[in-house]
Amino acid sequence: MKAAVYTHYGFPEVLQLKEVAKPAPKDNEVLVRINATAVNSGDVRLRKADPFAVRLFFGLLKPKTNILGSVFSGDVESVGKQVKRFKVGDQVFGHTDMGFGAYAEYICVPEDGSLALKPVDILHDEAAAIPFGGVTALHFIRKAMIEANQKVLVVGASGAVGSAAVQLAKSYGAIVTGVCSTANIDLVKSIGADKVIDYTKEDFTQNGEVYDLIFDAVRAISVSRSLKSLAKNGIMILSAAGMSEMLQGLWISITSKRKVMTGVISHNAADIIFLKELIERGKLKPVVDRAYPLEQIAEAHAYAEKGHKKGNIIINI
Ligand SMILES: NC(=O)c1ccc[n+]([C@@H]2O[C@H](COP(=O)([O-])OP(=O)(O)OC[C@H]3O[C@@H](n4cnc5c(N)ncnc54)[C@H](OP(=O)(O)O)[C@@H]3O)[C@@H](O)[C@H]2O)c1
Repeated sequence: MKAAVYTHYGFPEVLQLKEVAKPAPKDNEVLVRINATAVNSGDVRLRKADPFAVRLFFGLLKPKTNILGSVFSGDVESVGKQVKRFKVGDQVFGHTDMGFGAYAEYICVPEDGSLALKPVDILHDEAAAIPFGGVTALHFIRKAMIEANQKVLVVGASGAVGSAAVQLAKSYGAIVTGVCSTANIDLVKSIGADKVIDYTKEDFTQNGEVYDLIFDAVRAISVSRSLKSLAKNGIMILSAAGMSEMLQGLWISITSKRKVMTGVISHNAADIIFLKELIERGKLKPVVDRAYPLEQIAEAHAYAEKGHKKGNIIINI
């Protein structure tokens, strides 16, 4: 099968299209013929080994996992002997977690992994735009136990995680303000934000508004500045936190009534099913910036790396 393979860390060009062996499903796995995947910030970090800590988990000198891509939408081509949830021909979408391997024509995934039937009313291209931002935003929003009518601010509302956070917070009945650049105002309004702040024209920390929850999806602003806009017993989610923000967040959580949530997310099949049902109820829309064929995976990475994408970049296989 065709796959985008990388054997050393570096620039987008390290991703090379190659012929590799087609995987065969184990007894508990399904073999999916991938129709669409996406280029996410996680893939870019692994390709570049940035931050350095990536090397500690994924290979010190060269990557141990040679095919990136953590989300997919496609058709079940065959199933292992013990598989009960899926059958040949099912259209499915999902997230491979740290297994990666979705920049390829085929992938084997355990039937009890983060996998669900694709919502019927959306295309594979759109379904592949859901899992990355969806499970990340869901993990934190659930942890924050968000309630109806709470005031929520999403910083980075136009990105993969932020655009999902806006929609999930709205689905819980929150009053949501999205922070984005001028070019993304219409997009952020279209996914349901009650109010939009253009960060190129207004500094939200200076406008006197206070929020019950601040979800900073892009590490755009310092924690100490954001705190000015957080209620005294409010929650701050820093989904893109580095080590220093994690320590700062821990200190704030210990020494005040405010809570700061950071860390690596986890997810499972129930989460993907939950996202599927939200899509079917019209509460979650895929946000797709642009699509590239697998042959142009390096161009897609170069674009993602600029940090200005609107939602998701899709790769058609
Ligand atoms: N904790 C976890 O387990 C976990 C899981 C997934 C992702 N993440 C992390 O989450 C981060 C975000 O990922 P993502 O995929 O959502 O990023 P992304 O899709 O690349 O989104 C970046 C978006 O932020 C906007 N932006 C840039 N500067 C901004 C600012 N100052 N204020 C508001 N918006 C701004 C950009 O548009 P403009 O430039 O036009 O403003 C762009 O739309 C990554 O660092 C990733 O590593 C963490």
